[in-house]
Amino acid sequence: MSRIAVLISGNGSNLQALIDSVEAGDLATEIAVVVSSQADAFGVQRAQRAGIPVKVMPLPDGDDRDRFDRELADVVASYQPDLVVLAGWMLILGAEFLDRFPDDVINLHPAMPGAFPGTDAIKRAHAAFHRGEIKRTGVMVHRVVAEVDAGPAVVAEPVPIFQDESVADLEERVHLVEHNLIVAAVDLLLGDS
Ligand code: GRF
Repeated sequence: MSRIAVLISGNGSNLQALIDSVEAGDLATEIAVVVSSQADAFGVQRAQRAGIPVKVMPLPDGDDRDRFDRELADVVASYQPDLVVLAGWMLILGAEFLDRFPDDVINLHPAMPGAFPGTDAIKRAHAAFHRGEIKRTGVMVHRVVAEVDAGPAVVAEPVPIFQDESVADLEERVHLVEHNLIVAAVDLLLGDS
């Protein structure tokens, strides 16, 4: 059975989608550990409720970033994951982390490949739509490289934007697509292992 490590920083609704799929027998992997960069993230409670080991690893104030990446990599590696899944993980990971799991770190981002890297992607897409610059946004899961939200896409799905909807409405629809896509990406990458 393959193993994944899921890294979160907040609500953890995508973690929940993974947990639900595993528990339903739709996704044949084990969530070996959940790492949260925030002690009070709701995703921590979701993991605990599902009986998954949880590690809380906040970025210490003024700490050496390479050292943090190394310590994080040590913790994640100790659970021997086949795939590391960033599901709402808000810290940028450098080579000290990425080089430990070559090609095996994926990230969920609420935009199409090449569009709206960084934070507030849904809000920025909504604004761009109303300026007439785009007709749709989307969701992607991509391999993680040093550049933020820029690695090659594993899967991507467009999401239309409707004229009358609020940012909150769009966010809700984007999140629903995310919950399916994150499961599909893990299944695609680990399905045969
Ligand atoms: C998602 O929109 C994800 O694409 C982004 O952060 C959000 C995390 O949501 N990177 P959740 O914590 O999984 O509910």
